[in-house]
Amino acid sequence: MSPADRYAVMGNPIAHSKSPRIHALFAAQTGQDIVYEAILVERGRFPEAVAAFQAAGGKGLNVTVPFKEEAYAIADARSARAERAGAVNTLVLGPDGTRYGDNTDGVGLVRDLRDNLGLVLAGARILLVGAGGAARGILGPLLEARPATVTLANRTVARAEHLAAAFADLGPVTACGFEALAGRTFDLILNATAASLAGEVPPLPPDVVRPDTVCYDLAYGERGETPFVAWAREQGAAHALDGLGMLVEQAAESFYLWRGVRPATRPVIAALRE
Ligand code: ATR
Repeated sequence: MSPADRYAVMGNPIAHSKSPRIHALFAAQTGQDIVYEAILVERGRFPEAVAAFQAAGGKGLNVTVPFKEEAYAIADARSARAERAGAVNTLVLGPDGTRYGDNTDGVGLVRDLRDNLGLVLAGARILLVGAGGAARGILGPLLEARPATVTLANRTVARAEHLAAAFADLGPVTACGFEALAGRTFDLILNATAASLAGEVPPLPPDVVRPDTVCYDLAYGERGETPFVAWAREQGAAHALDGLGMLVEQAAESFYLWRGVRPATRPVIAALRE
């Protein structure tokens, strides 16, 4: 019997990653014989960690904070969506040393919003808060879902303007600061800032959340809800959701790239919510 194919997620920190559990559930469900581990990589050591994993026969990697841009750099071929995102969260490793880079974050978000939560993105007015790597990673697939508008709001307005300009050819995207949001209404507010990591919420005007606004945090709470989800619920949002579904959906897309099999995501999301 040949040994199981090896996969892993690399990041820093990585101890609390749910990816090993998600991929173990996918493997059990689809009858795929794989092992998937979490590897803590020191900053500055990412390229050698990938090389060592690949030399040992590793077939694929997920890449998380802070290595997605480095993963982009070490890929020798990339999907169009990874090129747009400027970041890679999935590497397909060939036995001959090849590295194909993809980014499944955006499609994961769109699938969670549309297929799991039943939101209609076509024609929606979307507020995307944040203009860093997380926002960049999802903007392409979001615009491809044909919203009426995507408003990019960021603490540093110039960064939002820069990002909006880089995606303007894909759809109607504009940039502003937080104060400029006062009095405006949105169907969906996405939090793509790193504020949660510091236990903070971006300082949005409270009236931006209306009774029919859906609020979604790309981050998920390791213990209970994220600060943004709690804030959105306090403002009376129609729904306030974290990014656990997106996490499972981006994992499913990675699993499909590696194994050619698409796992069912709902039972896995349900198992993780328990
Ligand atoms: P990531 O890869 O997680 O997106 P990043 O590229 O460092 O990380 O971007 C972090 C994002 O979170 C930025 O949009 C940042 O705003 P600035 O561009 O103004 O720095 C935003 N951010 C971080 N902490 C924040 C806070 N406390 N309030 C509002 N925005 C915050």
